[in-house]
This record gives sequence, C-alpha cells and structure tokens, in this order.
Amino acid sequence: MLPSFFAASVALLSLTGLAQAMPQGGFGGPGSGSQSSAVVSSSTVASSTSGSTVAASVSQAAESTSTVACNNSPDLCNRNYNNITHMGAHDAAFLRDSSTSYSTSGNQYYNATKALSAGLRLLQAQVHNSSGTLELCHTTCTLLDAGSLEAWLAEIKTWMDANTNEVVTILLVNSDDEDASSFGSVFEASGISTYGYTPTTTSGPISTWPTLQTLITANTRLVTFIASITYDSTYSYLLPEFTYMFETAYGVTSLSGFNCTLDRPSTVSSASVAVSSGYMGLVNHFADTAEAFGISIPDVTDIKTTNSASTNTTGTLGTQGAQCDSEWGLKPTFMLVDFWNVGPSIETADNLNGITATGRTSVSTDELSSSSSAGMRRDAKGWFNIVAVAMGVVAIGNFVWL
Ligand SMILES: *[C@@H]1O[C@H](CO)[C@@H](O)[C@H](O)[C@H]1NC(C)=O
Ligand SMILES: *[C@@H]1O[C@H](CO)[C@@H](O)[C@H](O)[C@H]1NC(C)=O
Ligand SMILES: *[C@@H]1O[C@H](CO)[C@@H](O)[C@H](O)[C@H]1NC(C)=O
Ligand SMILES: *[C@@H]1O[C@H](CO)[C@@H](O)[C@H](O)[C@H]1NC(C)=O
Ligand SMILES: *[C@@H]1O[C@H](CO)[C@@H](O)[C@H](O)[C@H]1NC(C)=O
Repeated sequence: MLPSFFAASVALLSLTGLAQAMPQGGFGGPGSGSQSSAVVSSSTVASSTSGSTVAASVSQAAESTSTVACNNSPDLCNRNYNNITHMGAHDAAFLRDSSTSYSTSGNQYYNATKALSAGLRLLQAQVHNSSGTLELCHTTCTLLDAGSLEAWLAEIKTWMDANTNEVVTILLVNSDDEDASSFGSVFEASGISTYGYTPTTTSGPISTWPTLQTLITANTRLVTFIASITYDSTYSYLLPEFTYMFETAYGVTSLSGFNCTLDRPSTVSSASVAVSSGYMGLVNHFADTAEAFGISIPDVTDIKTTNSASTNTTGTLGTQGAQCDSEWGLKPTFMLVDFWNVGPSIETADNLNGITATGRTSVSTDELSSSSSAGMRRDAKGWFNIVAVAMGVVAIGNFVWL
C-alpha cells in the first residue's frame, strides 16, 4: 500500500527498532529457595475442598511461614498481585549474545531463565506465525527467530516447577492475529497451562487481584496477558492485555522522553481514568537510538543511565518509576526494560516494593560485547540482515510490522 521507497524506510525503521517495536514481553526471575515450607502449606490447602477452608489455610500459611519468600520476599506474600511492581524483560527471548552473534536486533544479554533467577517476574515477547508454528520472532522471522513459543514456555515451566513459591507473568504480542485456541494449544503442549490463573472476572479491569500467597497456594502462579487477542473461555487463562492494563509510550528515542501519560489502550482517555477504573499500569522504559537511514536500534550507549535506580537523574528507571507512582497515586505494576541485568533494573522494583530481596542468583551488571574487531564484523552482518530483510519486505509488499 505504501510507495516502495517510503515503505523501505519504514521497514528499516521497524526492523532495527525491533527492540522497541514491541512494547511488552518479559519473564520473571527465579524464585527463592523456600520451597519446603511452601509445599507443606500448599498440600494443607490442596486437601481442603471448601472455599472457606482454603482461605483459612492460606492465612495460616501466611502467618506460620513468615520467613518464606514469595517472589523473593516474605513481605510480598500477603500483598495483592497488582500492588507489587513486577520487573520485566522487554523482548525477553531476543538475545544479543553469542547465540545470535550479538545481533543488533537483540534486546537482552541473558535469557528468560536467567532473568527469572535474577528476580524478574515479567517476561514479554512477540509471537509470529511461521508456516503454521507459533514462533518467537523479532519483527519478522527472517530477522531474528528465537525458536518456538512452545519450547520457550517449556523452559519457563521447568523453572516454575523448581521454584514453587514464585508467581510469573507473561506478556505476548500477537503479531499475526492468531486466535486464542492457537495459543492455548501451545500453552497446553508446553505443560505450562497447568499454572494458568483465571481471574474472577474476565470482562474488565480488576482493582483487587489476589495476593501472591493465594496464587501460590492454588498453584495458579502464571498470569498470562496477550495483546490483541479475542478472549476464549476454553483458554480462560489467556487474558486480553488491554482489558486489564494500560501502558506508557514505547519507541522513546531520548532519555528525556519518558513520561507517565497513557499511550494505550486508546479507548481509555487518561492514566488517571485508567487507574480509577482499576487498570494496572505498565511502564515501558527502554530507549532507541536513531541511526542512519531512519533506522533505530536499542540504545545501548546510555543503558547504564536508562536502567539506573537513581530517582534524581533524567531518563533513569528509578525516576520514571517514582514519577508514575506520584502521578498515578499508585506504583507501576509492571515495568519493561532492555538489557535487564544492567542497572541492575531489579533494584528499582525492590525500591518501589520496599523490600530487601532473598534467594536470587546474581548476574553481572556489565554489558556483553565481543572484542572490538569481532564487533565490527558482527555489526556489518547485522546491518546486512536488516537491509536484506527490508528489501525482501518491499519486494513482497508486506508493510505491516506490528
Ligand atoms: C499496597 O501495599 C502496601 C505495602 O504493604 C500497603 O501499605 C498498601 O495499603 C497496599 N495498597 C493497597 C491498595 O492494598
Ligand atoms: C537459558 O540458558 C540456560 C543455560 O545456557 C539454559 O539451561 C536455559 O534452558 C535457557 N533458558 C531459556 C528460556 O532458553
Ligand atoms: C498460520 O500460517 C499457516 C501456514 O502459513 C496458515 O495456514 C494459517 O492460516 C496461519 N494462521 C493464521 C491464524 O493466520
Ligand atoms: C509522553 O512521551 C511520549 C514518548 O516520548 C510522547 O510521544 C508524548 O507526547 C509524551 N506525552 C506528554 C504529555 O508529554
Ligand atoms: C540522588 O540520589 C542518590 C540515590 O539514588 C543519592 O545518593 C544522591 O544523594 C542524590 N543526589 C541528589 C543531588 O539529591
């Protein structure tokens, strides 16, 4: 539909802006090693059948296991899911490491399992239809294909199996408008659907979500949101994102460009209306750098500032978190970052949550890169791929990216 030259630049822009093109996605971090008491509590509850018995057991569990951590802190067990800031990895499956030859399309240095183990509890990614298979691809499967959604979910399930006191959130972008049953069959095949949480209402925002302990006790520890999906009661744990959540803008290209204004959904007029209606707020906190030819790529140059917990520096995660908390009168429930290990980003969530975390595996906060000469070669290859994909796209006439 667009003239091809213009389309080519749009394509290039979208391609290198991969990291940004998709606002959400992320995985949570690993749980702490508090499984044994948690297991005892869970089995007590599991043997109960009436709702009131379950509730009593839950509060007993919460009292009797006050040193047991939920999402890395005992202080979070009795807090409502939406009264916690869940730090998230944007484009969590798209790596800039040796497995992708340090692809410029990669948004993260470490994978979803590492993110969970380091304390992140939100994992976001884009899902595409690649010849009938739901595949994790960055903008297009030609550019960066991180494998099947099923294999990725199976890895997350493995982590959740081993970390029984942890609540994880997944946020997927449905790039090719697949229906819920396509996603549902993949969630089932991976085994992770066993943990899927179905809220009490699926028709609108919920101002009071269950506590982490309630989700843990019921072993419905996975909350899944999919952008642009039609709800299907057969797969009731696959939640249309914008029924429950609003987001700040993504595609920010300047560290002074972050704010707390509602960007989506367009059906809600402002952040304050969203907050008072019970929507949870998601902060997109990742920046792109404009390159030649109208291309933009994840801004690595400023990443230490971008992901810093400082609350008195322009462009930091800490500053945007504090600003949204103040403007909304409520903490952001979700925050998404690129290169989550830098900062480290989790520090901002801990500050907002007011916790000192336990049970995490530490990951270097350094940026990953190859030696400079190897880096040059990789960059050249990255550019070649981007240009080649853009030309292919122009030739095919497919200009729809997101
Ligand atoms: C959220 O959690 C904090 C810390 O426990 C608590 O003080 C506050 O009342 C909670 N807010 C809501 C709305 O439950
Ligand atoms: C992340 O990498 C580790 C080790 O390299 C691997 O065991 C794990 O399965 C990977 N996780 C994902 C989600 O790919
Ligand atoms: C996914 O791709 C396959 C093969 O290209 C196609 O047959 C199928 O209709 C696609 N699914 C959707 C929902 O577009
Ligand atoms: C918020 O930030 C976005 C992205 O930088 C920008 O497009 C938008 O105009 C800003 N809104 C306000 C009210 O400043
Ligand atoms: C800025 O915040 C840091 C902690 O994030 C604090 O150590 C420092 O004193 C603050 N600087 C100013 C000028 O407020």
